[in-house]
Amino acid sequence: MTLTFSSRIEGNQIRCLIGTDRPLAAPVFCFSLMAAPKVISGGTLGRRVAGYAEVALPDLAAGALHEVVLEHAVKEFGPRNRAWLPLGAYLRVGKECLPLPAGNDIGLRDVDGPDAPTLAPGRLPLVPQPTDWAPSAGVLPFQAVAPDAGLDALQDLAERLGLAPIIAAGGLALPVTEEAGLGPEGYRLTIASTALSVAVGGAAGLHYAGVTLLTLRETCGGALPCGVITDTPRFGWRGQHLDCARHFFGIDFILRLLDLMALLKLNRFHWHFADDEAFRLEVDTQPLLWQRTAFRGEGEPVPGVFGGGIRAGGSYSKADVAQVVARAKALQIEVLPEIEVPAHSHAMIKAAPGLRDPGDNGEEVSIQGYLDNIVNPAIPATWDLLLPLAKEVAGLFPLRMLHLGADEAPPGAWGGSPAVAALKAREGLETSDDVQGWMLAKLGAELAASGVRVAAWEEAAKGCQGGIGNGALLFSWTGQGPGVEAARRGHDVVMCPAQNAYFDLAHSHDPDDWGAAWAGYVPLEKTVAWDPVPKGAEDITPRIAGVEACFWGEFTTEDAQAEGMIAPRILGIATKGWEPAGRTDGTALRALAGVYGVLFDRIGWRRNRGA
Ligand code: ACM
Repeated sequence: MTLTFSSRIEGNQIRCLIGTDRPLAAPVFCFSLMAAPKVISGGTLGRRVAGYAEVALPDLAAGALHEVVLEHAVKEFGPRNRAWLPLGAYLRVGKECLPLPAGNDIGLRDVDGPDAPTLAPGRLPLVPQPTDWAPSAGVLPFQAVAPDAGLDALQDLAERLGLAPIIAAGGLALPVTEEAGLGPEGYRLTIASTALSVAVGGAAGLHYAGVTLLTLRETCGGALPCGVITDTPRFGWRGQHLDCARHFFGIDFILRLLDLMALLKLNRFHWHFADDEAFRLEVDTQPLLWQRTAFRGEGEPVPGVFGGGIRAGGSYSKADVAQVVARAKALQIEVLPEIEVPAHSHAMIKAAPGLRDPGDNGEEVSIQGYLDNIVNPAIPATWDLLLPLAKEVAGLFPLRMLHLGADEAPPGAWGGSPAVAALKAREGLETSDDVQGWMLAKLGAELAASGVRVAAWEEAAKGCQGGIGNGALLFSWTGQGPGVEAARRGHDVVMCPAQNAYFDLAHSHDPDDWGAAWAGYVPLEKTVAWDPVPKGAEDITPRIAGVEACFWGEFTTEDAQAEGMIAPRILGIATKGWEPAGRTDGTALRALAGVYGVLFDRIGWRRNRGA
């Protein structure tokens, strides 16, 4: 049997054409959109879970081309580009599921953009740019350093990336001296016409000096410009987040991302493996969480939301975690795990149904259209599940920090829960923000008692009792304003403003592009068109721990699709995390992206060439 499927955007509508060469009796069209759909014509909406929908179609005759017209139920989510078309589409006919071919050729298109401008004089072909570069005359031919230089992790990195060895018998000596004043991550690399030497503030400094050598060898064609590089990062937190809940990224992809991060001196991997669609970590304390939700689709507790299709997913074993942690450690990267509560917990609730108040008659709807995605902090079952889970997850990662989530609780959350009403009366709470703040503070205090610091999205600062408290690290994502406010109230903050640092947002307005658009578009230039310490907020400088880029996986159905969304934009976050303010603007970054394009190609990481 041959089925055909295509879809296109027309104004606010999505027009789908389904074709078959055999008659089909009462087929059901299953698919997902970015957010809740409604059916305008061509079928009858049946089951719907967030953006996933089942639409009953009339019998289809052989040779028929049947049109279904859809809209997003919430007008603000009008379709913007190909990523907003149906994903994971299939037909259910009786008990059989028949995949429909991907109708909107999934992912970024490989289009060549304009030629990158050339690098301005005085700039090294290096991202991030060093704090100081004092060139002298001449070049040093360079292939590798001699053994015993302490760069074994970079030898492994070079090998994995398909680059020439950075350590070789007969390589140049790299004498190392210690200079505490450079700071633990700082180094001063002297490149003379016949020799190298380095002063370092610590082991990380030596590692970053090695990364600089490896990179310059690649970007300078084996002839390093002579001079002195003095280099130390502006921020201690230089992160990249990856949403592995919506799309299950294989461990190999995660390890490759760590390698890419290492090349850019990024040092925090934020592992988002739990969300409405799945809980993917193979925890012992709550095995049903991952056993019941790691896969979603037909017959599973969570259907094929966000391109899950007939069945998709996977989970991360303890051995996978150990591998990620070990790789990260070798590359001077720490891993921040996230469990994501109280909202974005639809999968958790499906796996452990007792996490909602049975008397709750509220009808809150999440931003992505879930009716039941928030666990209830006023019932003992929630704490029985969360406390051991949080401690177990935190215990797997040497950072001793756990990101609790806390973003996007649906408006009016718990409004219908008698148990929360009683909690409010008992604790002096009024709003759902107050309840969330109370819950996070309690969870944070429990974790602090076992030596774990908590982190959370910006919303965790809300609440009449001061929100999460407990020295939590907060992530400012809707913009920088909430981060500034939180910092002024005493929180340490990581800035990850969507407008500049969300790599799932489309690069451009082009309807042929790919990606989300709720916070605008993020061409490469925008990734550096901001300062982590905004103008007028210099008072919070000591509270800004650093920066992070996020990649959310709602419309990713294969690992490789993420590559061109992340590169070259990841150059921007590396720049912001390391360089002094204002060192590299959009034009300069575009020139560096031209240089790095060659390197991305060499290491086999796809990049967006266009925008
Ligand atoms: C977020 O993007 N909801 C943190």
